[in-house]
Amino acid sequence: MSRTVYVNGEYLPEAQAKISIFDRGFLFADGIYEVSSVLDGKLLDNAAHLARMRRSLRELEMPSPATDEQIAAVQQELIARNDLHEGVVYLQITRGAADRDFAYPADAQPSLVMFTQARAIVDSPAARRGISVVSMQDIRWQRRDIKTVGLLAASMAKQAALNAGADDAWLVEDGLVTEGSSNNAYIVTADGVLVTRHLSNEILHGITRAAVLRLSREDNMTVEERAFSLDEAYAASEAFITSASTFVMPVVKIDDQVIGTGEPGPVSQRLRELYVDAARGDPPT
Ligand code: PDD
Repeated sequence: MSRTVYVNGEYLPEAQAKISIFDRGFLFADGIYEVSSVLDGKLLDNAAHLARMRRSLRELEMPSPATDEQIAAVQQELIARNDLHEGVVYLQITRGAADRDFAYPADAQPSLVMFTQARAIVDSPAARRGISVVSMQDIRWQRRDIKTVGLLAASMAKQAALNAGADDAWLVEDGLVTEGSSNNAYIVTADGVLVTRHLSNEILHGITRAAVLRLSREDNMTVEERAFSLDEAYAASEAFITSASTFVMPVVKIDDQVIGTGEPGPVSQRLRELYVDAARGDPPT
């Protein structure tokens, strides 16, 4: 079935959507993106995604092709036209088309592209059994806080993980875990403390991360935002990742080390439940 996608003011069947070969997103990865999840036909935490989008644009001095209200209206229209109940809406802004030159062009029109992806996020077999990750060196650039489409290092890491028979990669810098290939990384220590790396330019400031840390604190968990080593992760009682496209996803194996019992642990399962309940507007149980 062909999706309806959005390209610069037009709703089109996906096969008819086109962008210039001179678009700087294509030539320089000069673009930013956001992925907002959709549950029961509704966008989750979209204001926070749009706020992060604004920050990415600001950091790159990139003009915006639309207001937040206009972008949210297109997201809603795509959800409606594609009858999307569960999945994600992807949006990408690039600096637009200009003859190839490293300097930012003075007069390019920024491009705005959006599409939907249907996906079962809540009822996920991976979440029921937990995923395995392998560690590898974080070879990405130094501004991982900007959500740019320059994702080749992340893509290489994900593929290397799959080639090694694992589900995803945990990236390591100076002996400390930064994050997953497209998600934030967490451990629960033997004495029950939830640990995830502090915010800096070294990781993406996850929207799901912010929500999960808030829910953890409301649930009276002890949370430490600090870097952790692989050895600490190997010894953890639980591990998990978060992102808009996975919510809270238990990690049951890191490299050759089975984590906890090798099955999704109580903290990850509880946080996953709390997150889904909060997303659906259900009171916590
Ligand atoms: N990835 N870290 C990285 C490197 C990411 O790419 C992502 C999101 C996250 C989690 O952020 P959030 O909770 O806001 O989704 C952390 C998206 C889902 C993607 O690229 O598809």
